[in-house]
Amino acid sequence: MKKYILDLKVTENRQLHTNYVLLKFTTTDGSLLPPMAPGQFAEIRIDGSPSTFLRRPISINYIDEVRNELWLLVQLVGDGTRKLATVSSGQIVNMVLPLGNMFTIPADKTSNVLLIGGGVGTAPMLYLGDVLKKHGLTPSFLLGTRSAKDVLQLEEFSALGNVFVTTEDGSLGQKGYVTQHSVLTECKFDRIYTCGPKPMMIAVAKYAKMHGITCEVSLENCMACGVGACLCCVENTQDGHVCVCKEGPVFDINKLLWQI
Ligand code: FES
Repeated sequence: MKKYILDLKVTENRQLHTNYVLLKFTTTDGSLLPPMAPGQFAEIRIDGSPSTFLRRPISINYIDEVRNELWLLVQLVGDGTRKLATVSSGQIVNMVLPLGNMFTIPADKTSNVLLIGGGVGTAPMLYLGDVLKKHGLTPSFLLGTRSAKDVLQLEEFSALGNVFVTTEDGSLGQKGYVTQHSVLTECKFDRIYTCGPKPMMIAVAKYAKMHGITCEVSLENCMACGVGACLCCVENTQDGHVCVCKEGPVFDINKLLWQI
């Protein structure tokens, strides 16, 4: 997929949580946003932050085709993302996109698909769910967080399919981790997609493997260049060492050398 370096205009900056903002962007000249696929990400240039030299990789949260908007869910983890979170409507942000590969969309429209997200890993699941729905599937979402206040974009997920929630403190949905949710025993899924903290993805991958379910994970390895040049995001796979930013971030679990 062709990559672009674009100046996009902020249309909205909404604080969803003390640690997350949702940024929406559109083009500056009214042209259409370039095609982007679920699982891909953008590398964002952070202007005005002297301590932030490199662009920041942020996964594509959603594409609003009607409003010609790109949504990015930004977790505030350091100087760069905190600076990015201060942008306001009308401001211009430079980004390189779309980068990386994409989740596989099953040809079989009767496939029962489960999208499991944890923390900021829920971000790519929204756009994936939207694309799956447009392909005629009914996605189910399983969102895992620490507490009810950490569940983000529940309304948007609910508009796309069934939503199940686990919280570690039991304040919303079922208490525990995503792999303990009863939906996994009550329903039969043909395919699982997951993104989130590595221990969660490993637990999901184990579950999928044990039950013979096709499973793709989106890795969150540290990234810098985003285009396979700096080698800081390397993952060891069945195909040798590969750059997650270029060959991923989406991998079939059977390609990974995780102990699952
Ligand atoms: Fe530079 Fe992947 S981020 S090679």
